[in-house]
Amino acid sequence: MAFQAGMMYDVTVIGEIYLDHVFSGFADWPGPGEEIFTDQYAWELGGGAVTTACALARLGRSVQLIGVVGEDQFPMIEARLATFGVSAANLTRTRERSGVTVSISTTKDRSFFTYRGANRQLSGLLRSNDSLLDIAALAKHVHLAMPLAAEDGDTILPVLKRRDATISIDVGHHVKWLEDARSLEIVRAIDYAMPNEKEAVIMAGTPQRYLDLCRSLGVRHALVKLGSAGAIMLSGGVEYKAAPPDVDTVDTTGAGDAFDAGFIDAVLSGLSPKQCIEHGCVCGALSTRAAGALQALPTRAEAATVCEENYVA
Ligand SMILES: Nc1ncnc2c1ncn2[C@@H]1O[C@H](COP(=O)(O)OP(=O)(O)OP(=O)(O)O)[C@@H](O)[C@H]1O
Ligand SMILES: [Mg+2]
Repeated sequence: MAFQAGMMYDVTVIGEIYLDHVFSGFADWPGPGEEIFTDQYAWELGGGAVTTACALARLGRSVQLIGVVGEDQFPMIEARLATFGVSAANLTRTRERSGVTVSISTTKDRSFFTYRGANRQLSGLLRSNDSLLDIAALAKHVHLAMPLAAEDGDTILPVLKRRDATISIDVGHHVKWLEDARSLEIVRAIDYAMPNEKEAVIMAGTPQRYLDLCRSLGVRHALVKLGSAGAIMLSGGVEYKAAPPDVDTVDTTGAGDAFDAGFIDAVLSGLSPKQCIEHGCVCGALSTRAAGALQALPTRAEAATVCEENYVA
């Protein structure tokens, strides 16, 4: 395994990596044994880790992605990441095929079929490969776009923090993790957990109760993403709220991951808690202007202009 050691990145993003095959333009779903055709097909990289990594790179950050992909799929994954400037040098390659999601859109609905493939190896790899964690720790910030199991926190987090990186986590809709009271140990041990509204509801009943729970546990920064209502955050005992700017929303896929990138970028710039959620909201909202998660990610200049237009300094 060839690690690109010695390089200091702004951010390491760790998580599952998918090849998304997107079929659209169907009037209806086929019956059993039937075949239907479309002229509308695209492939793209997918998964929250990819979206957050690409969004951070679009904002001008140096980013390395850590995850597990198929040896045969690596060249196309590396090439697509390179168009954003995300380093694939420390992706682990395996003989198992990369994870794949097939997305089928009819005019009424959208359905997904997912093969986790090589992604199944990620947790075991992080548990067993200290040198990979050392490489991950070579960044100012480490973002975990995955459900880090409570029992792994004590071993994995200290290694990631060895060089004083700040740490964030976006678990996604992993119900078992969200329902497990021990996961709150992870929330407490890292700097920024980034649930959305549904996830906060599973953990604590309502977003407000989630903030209250975090307050009672001594969590330094607690935040919840609230879709078109923006985000709330508890930091230093003070509650902040931000609404997203008005945008012509086309597709909200990946908005939460783009929010994460905007938030992390602001943390790295040393902005205030209020500015961090505003910057997150701007990046989340701007990402919804086009279909797919990666098409409308904003540049730093774009995000800065929209922040200035919408929020009081
Ligand atoms: N319809 C929308 N209009 C404007 N902004 C939006 C909209 N949906 C999401 N956003 C912006 O994106 C941010 C994150 O969105 P959301 O709360 O939906 O995250 P999420 O549920 O984690 O998303 P994901 O689908 O990526 O998992 C919000 O805080 C908001 O700023
Ligand atoms: Mg999300």
